Amino acid sequence: MKSFLILTATFVLVFNTNAAEKSLGPDDMPKGFVSGDASKGSALVQSCAACHGADGNSINSDWPKIAGQNEKYLYEQIKYFRSGERNNALMMTVTPYLQSLSEKDLLDIAAFYSSNVSTGGQAKNDTELLELGTKLYRFGDIKKQIPACTSCHSVYGDGNNLANYPAVAGQQVGYLVSSLKAYRSKERNAGEQSLVMQSIAENLTDNEIDALANYMHGLYK
Ligand code: HEC
Ligand code: HEC
Repeated sequence: MKSFLILTATFVLVFNTNAAEKSLGPDDMPKGFVSGDASKGSALVQSCAACHGADGNSINSDWPKIAGQNEKYLYEQIKYFRSGERNNALMMTVTPYLQSLSEKDLLDIAAFYSSNVSTGGQAKNDTELLELGTKLYRFGDIKKQIPACTSCHSVYGDGNNLANYPAVAGQQVGYLVSSLKAYRSKERNAGEQSLVMQSIAENLTDNEIDALANYMHGLYK
């Protein structure tokens, strides 16, 4: 028993020494623990406010809210827009600006929006649409190979920061619809994780997409 303890202690010591020697960048950090400086980020987002709102709550149905979105997800998506892997005409207007920023700046921006609170939304009170949205979101549809959305985006739609699953609660309806259609047409194709959503969206009809978007828009904790 004693020798086991000593062995363990030695291992921990050796491990720590190695860690101290290597200098770590943001991309080396364990995924869920990447954390920027929100107050620094708040000074870098003047050019974003026109579309996303001063705090990340856009008021246009077609433009996403990014307030309260999971930090890691935000950081990754900003990098995809910066590199052109994710494409959008309106976001392209800030590509040169994003290219002028450091990795740390992007982390700070992600931390800023993530620390803000989403204003949420209100689902359309259409019984048929709500029933379909609730059923698909919570249970999926085995026959159509649609998994339950809750397994990754959670029951309340707040996603999973550690796993890099975005929050969808209170998101703008127009944006939710166009995103699911963009996954379905494979147009949204930034990074390996988008493949997951492509294979799910493949099996959704327009009506199912409308129902899911309405349901997610109204989700709150
Ligand atoms: C001219 C309008 C406009 C401006 C300015 C703008 N955005 Fe966007 N942004 C959009 C639109 C529209 C989308 C949705 C793109 C899509 O459908 O793929 C988007 C998407 C995003 C997303 C992804 C959201 C998600 O849920 O996946 C992030 C993150 C983002 N923008 C950050 C920023 C930052 C940071 C800035 C400032 C440097 C900025 N945007 C400036 C319009 C804008
Ligand atoms: C296996 C995990 C998983 C399941 C199940 C899942 N998603 Fe996703 N979802 C993801 C991941 C990962 C992303 C981010 C993909 C990317 O990087 O483009 C995502 C992204 C999204 C987005 C885009 C969010 C944004 O801000 O742009 C929407 C909308 C969405 N999912 C809706 C759904 C719906 C509706 C269902 C159920 C029918 C569902 N998802 C099931 C993992 C999942």
